Amino acid sequence: MLRKIAIAAVSVLALSGAAFAAGGGEQHIEDVDFSFEGPFGKYDEHQLQRGLQVYTEVCSACHGMKFVPIRSLSDEGGPHLPEDQVRAYAKQFTAIDRDTGEEREATPNDFFPKSALENAPDLSLMAKARAGFHGPYGSGINQFFKGIGGAEYIYSILTGYTGHEIEQVGTTFYENTAFPGGLIAMNPPLSDGQVEYADGHEATVHHMAEDVSAFLMWAAEPKMMARKQVGFVGVLFLGLLTVLLYLTNKRIWAPHKGKKQA
Ligand code: HEC
Repeated sequence: MLRKIAIAAVSVLALSGAAFAAGGGEQHIEDVDFSFEGPFGKYDEHQLQRGLQVYTEVCSACHGMKFVPIRSLSDEGGPHLPEDQVRAYAKQFTAIDRDTGEEREATPNDFFPKSALENAPDLSLMAKARAGFHGPYGSGINQFFKGIGGAEYIYSILTGYTGHEIEQVGTTFYENTAFPGGLIAMNPPLSDGQVEYADGHEATVHHMAEDVSAFLMWAAEPKMMARKQVGFVGVLFLGLLTVLLYLTNKRIWAPHKGKKQA
């Protein structure tokens, strides 16, 4: 009887394992070593500036970032551009004036435009909306070690094209090893040397994908560094509290310790 139950349990486990492997096994997410990872990780200002360049010159042709205020480009801990550059940057976009309802040149107080292409999703929160790591077996334990992997997911999409494409109901789909289902409607946006970095950084697909993924992580979570700092202070405080409570406990019980029980 016991043996039968054991065999049944093992086969159920094996089957569900196989099912998970079949479902999630195709998706391949590269684990990139970003500067903002870990408890003390910080955004790299220069990387964010390069990422902004890639976003502006390539992605913004189709995608928008309508929840990100343009003025945040001058924030410390972000791309940290000088304010006059941000003002000049804003001028390339148009915005609808709230008072007159008319179109005008955008200012830093406006938001980035919404997606130009209807079926291209808004990228403001993409790095937080997607998880790169789910395993093992969908338990999510990997996220504890590698992070959620939103930026890695974007990086892997941009570098995950196999070169195959198929035509389906009038739409071309491109085979991509990171996209769930393996077929994405976005044609490979990056090719080597597509942008020219002012800092002389080599503009390979790999670098551009890394930079724009870091930039989109910042766009989705501009206060990450502040959050980590608060977390660290919180843990420090709780550690100190633990020590004090331990000593207090010792002192309170000291008179009763070492006494013989009657
Ligand atoms: C020619 C238009 C075009 C350009 C340029 C473009 N994309 Fe896309 N992108 C799309 C479309 C369309 C989709 C929706 C694809 C789908 O759902 O199959 C998409 C989807 C995505 C997704 C979403 C994947 C998901 O999980 O839903 C990400 C991330 C993305 N693009 C990032 C970028 C980045 C970063 C750039 C710039 C390097 C870029 N795209 C450039 C058209 C574009």
